[in-house]
Amino acid sequence: MKKVFLIAAYAHNHVIGSNGSIPWNIPGEQSRFRKLTTGNVVIMGRKTFDEIFQKLKKPLPGRINIIISKTKTYSDIDCYTFSTLKEAVDFSIKEFPEKNIFISGGESLYKEGISLAEKLFLTEIDLDVEGDVFFPKFCENDYEKIIEEEFTKPVSYRYLTYTRLS
Ligand SMILES: NC(=O)c1ccc[n+]([C@@H]2O[C@H](COP(=O)([O-])OP(=O)(O)OC[C@H]3O[C@@H](n4cnc5c(N)ncnc54)[C@H](OP(=O)(O)O)[C@@H]3O)[C@@H](O)[C@H]2O)c1
Repeated sequence: MKKVFLIAAYAHNHVIGSNGSIPWNIPGEQSRFRKLTTGNVVIMGRKTFDEIFQKLKKPLPGRINIIISKTKTYSDIDCYTFSTLKEAVDFSIKEFPEKNIFISGGESLYKEGISLAEKLFLTEIDLDVEGDVFFPKFCENDYEKIIEEEFTKPVSYRYLTYTRLS
């Protein structure tokens, strides 16, 4: 039985984005995202996918890209589209039983997806940034928290893993 996980990076105040993009650029910070998601399934909201596609001119390489949208289908791009997160998760479990499934933002997918995820792979960044989308507050007591790795340069940040208890 494969796993449903959630992966996110947030600054102080739980900011995850601003004006449609990630409001920091920290070399190396996304290496855990790449490592964990490569070879697996990433599920993301339409705006998050559009931002990635604008930058890369293609979906995230080496991963099965699944987009949640009620308005677009992306039929000419190598990806899947669903109108609800639940449909996307059910499809991924059925079609890719050997892969892990990562709910990868933005805000509404995190809000809805946090209850589905067995582990939260979070990057906490010690920056004060303005933003318009946020990672939801969640009850830390429901999880075991592990600090996987701490970084100090070019800013301080850390990789955390929260594993749901019981
Ligand atoms: N720091 C991080 O780890 C991280 C990760 C991901 C994204 N981000 C940032 O977050 C921002 C984008 O997030 P966002 O919250 O604004 O947008 P988003 O979740 O990426 O996309 C929103 C769109 O996705 C679809 N959607 C989302 N949830 C849905 C649901 N439950 N049911 C049906 N459709 C749903 C809708 O598309 P339609 O309108 O087409 O129906 C909605 O308009 C950007 O700034 C991005 O850089 C940060």
